[in-house]
Amino acid sequence: MAVTAPRHFLQFRDFSRDELGHLFDRTRWIKERFKRYEIYQPLRDRTLAMVFEKASTRTRVSFEAGMNQLGGIAINLNRHDTQLSRGEPIEDVARVISRMVDVVMIRTFGQDIIERFAAHSRVPVINGLTNEHHPCQILADVYTFIEHRGAIGGRTVAWIGDANNMLTSWLQAAAVLDFRIHVSSPAGYEIDRNALPADVASRCESYADPMDACRGADLVTTDVWTSMGFEAENEARLRAFADWQVDAEMMGVANPEALFMHCLPAHRGEEVAADVIDGPQSVVWDEAENRLHAQKALLEYLVCGKVGD
Ligand code: CP
Ligand code: NVA
Repeated sequence: MAVTAPRHFLQFRDFSRDELGHLFDRTRWIKERFKRYEIYQPLRDRTLAMVFEKASTRTRVSFEAGMNQLGGIAINLNRHDTQLSRGEPIEDVARVISRMVDVVMIRTFGQDIIERFAAHSRVPVINGLTNEHHPCQILADVYTFIEHRGAIGGRTVAWIGDANNMLTSWLQAAAVLDFRIHVSSPAGYEIDRNALPADVASRCESYADPMDACRGADLVTTDVWTSMGFEAENEARLRAFADWQVDAEMMGVANPEALFMHCLPAHRGEEVAADVIDGPQSVVWDEAENRLHAQKALLEYLVCGKVGD
């Protein structure tokens, strides 16, 4: 019997606009049922393996709680508790784990690691954050925007700060969902515009001054100045990013209806002022909660296919 290759979610653009539309519809449906305390368990007897090579609060809790709510179970594997810490090849780990479970979520360092795992996996693999991508977060962020403001197509997102994994996933979302993205990062920490695919570059504008990037934006978003794995650069980054704190002045030049988002964890007084993240335009708690609902829709889609249409 021919074995069909599993679908994976390794980067945001692995899914088409149609598939993402389906996921956002399912996220709303799943969230509404959950809020009414209605049981929905399409993943009964199914198992998710979660492999964490970096710390996590939101990703760990949202995947484990989500899997339980869908009727399945989640197994948490920290690098140090597994044979990965003793040098077992990632390809062998993929072959073994994927014979025992129905879906895998991995948080690791290089994107190459998750790609090697997926290439040897019999089951879908989800990227729970790598150095280069954080697609599950952007699923939740785009859904949160839609929930508060309607369709994101044609809108403008301002990214203020480090050209990191979050930005890469936002840029891919801009290309697939057709919105504009204004980026402002300090010198030496910018995106490499020459490396951007044409459909991303055409939707992305770079600004030396973060105020200019925020002007007229429908969403202002940022992230930590030092991502996990880059801690040795922290002191230099604190100095370089000092003028890139999202504050009330930046929010003041955005669209008056603009939202503020941050994937969390946040550092008040560094990348964001306390009165912005704790202020009326901030939707960071909805954004965090929506990790749960968006990933339940993602798990449903990867394990069960397109249901509910
Ligand atoms: N935003 C996010 O991925 O949070 P965690 O690192 O806590 O999982
Ligand atoms: N860019 C951050 C996101 C944390 C959720 C990091 O990679 O550490």
